[in-house]
Amino acid sequence: MSPRLHVLLGAGGVGKTTLAAGYALALAGQGRRVGLLGIDPARRLGTALGLALDDEARPVPDAGDLSAAVLAPAQCLPRWAAEVAPPEVARRLATNAFFVALAERLATANDVFAAIRLAEWMERDPTLDDLVVDTAPGENAIEFLRRPEALSAFLEGPLVAGLRRFARAERHGLAGQVLHRAAERALSGLGRIGGSTMLLELADFLALAEDMLERMAERLGAARAAMAAPSTEILLVAALRDDAADTARAIAAALAPLGFRPGATVINRALDPALGEELAGSDLAPLSPRSRAIVRYARAEASLQARVVAELSALAPRSVLLPAARSLEGDVRRSGLLDLGERLHHQLSA
Ligand SMILES: Nc1ncnc2c1ncn2[C@@H]1O[C@H](COP(=O)(O)OP(=O)(O)OP(=O)(O)O)[C@@H](O)[C@H]1O
Ligand SMILES: [Mg+2]
Repeated sequence: MSPRLHVLLGAGGVGKTTLAAGYALALAGQGRRVGLLGIDPARRLGTALGLALDDEARPVPDAGDLSAAVLAPAQCLPRWAAEVAPPEVARRLATNAFFVALAERLATANDVFAAIRLAEWMERDPTLDDLVVDTAPGENAIEFLRRPEALSAFLEGPLVAGLRRFARAERHGLAGQVLHRAAERALSGLGRIGGSTMLLELADFLALAEDMLERMAERLGAARAAMAAPSTEILLVAALRDDAADTARAIAAALAPLGFRPGATVINRALDPALGEELAGSDLAPLSPRSRAIVRYARAEASLQARVVAELSALAPRSVLLPAARSLEGDVRRSGLLDLGERLHHQLSA
């Protein structure tokens, strides 16, 4: 059984990270085994939880069966190399010029790493019930969900495909001058590498490149299969801001051709809709000018909210409204996150 994926998408600052953390806490509070993965290069997830997070998943204290990690591509590659390389080669890799150059080049492909990291997590922890993914702001975050062909195109691109070819040639005994010259040409894209240790380093590198890249390609396939599963839940987070609503619409439009539809739009820091109704019906006449101004302001906010809710409700089968929390600072942060996450969970499963 694969875990259920929950992916939060939305404009900058709308509360993706906050709600991803809260939702994961709420799911873990239900007794589920939950993973929380931040793939935003800004890595704010640790701050939201008040923890130092890195690429290795670690348990979140006092949160049931919840583990969290933030994607750090530079930490992924040595780990993936160690999975396939003989121990002595793996040890030498940290200083291998080819490996370092490849790592630098690959590290810019954040979305590819995110997908592979996700598949790695599911593979290592087959008993996981849920995996909540906090993404980078805006439309570009959907790159992470793109079809495997688009992601695999990266691994089949000229640089990586070239490396894999040379790795295979090395394996079939086609070493020596020809390989050296060809590899030098292919690897020139990786930067200036040379010197007397080059052949030794190249041999080390080729010994693992093929297997490591093969595993990465396999995991991309697994990630895509998990994303395409009917249980995958995409949450489109927005706020009462026109730009946030526009971004939500643009994300939904970009998801549609990929075959994804958000399960819900989530309007964060919303007003209580009952308050809106009450304000709309209230009589301003007996109020002081100051109170009138306040009520008018609140009415304008409520009508903005009604408009945003109506516009966004077309994007997903459900709309969830979450209140502004007063307790996301200091010691009460965790309970504030949990409260938001529980409200989200409750409204999604209603
Ligand atoms: N419901 C809420 N009530 C009160 N404060 C909130 C709420 N949701 C988010 N915040 C606060 O708003 C700020 C932005 O939230 P958050 O970092 O979760 O947004 P984000 O969408 O992940 O932003 P980015 O796009 O930069 O990653 C944070 O300071 C967070 O504590
Ligand atoms: Mg964030």
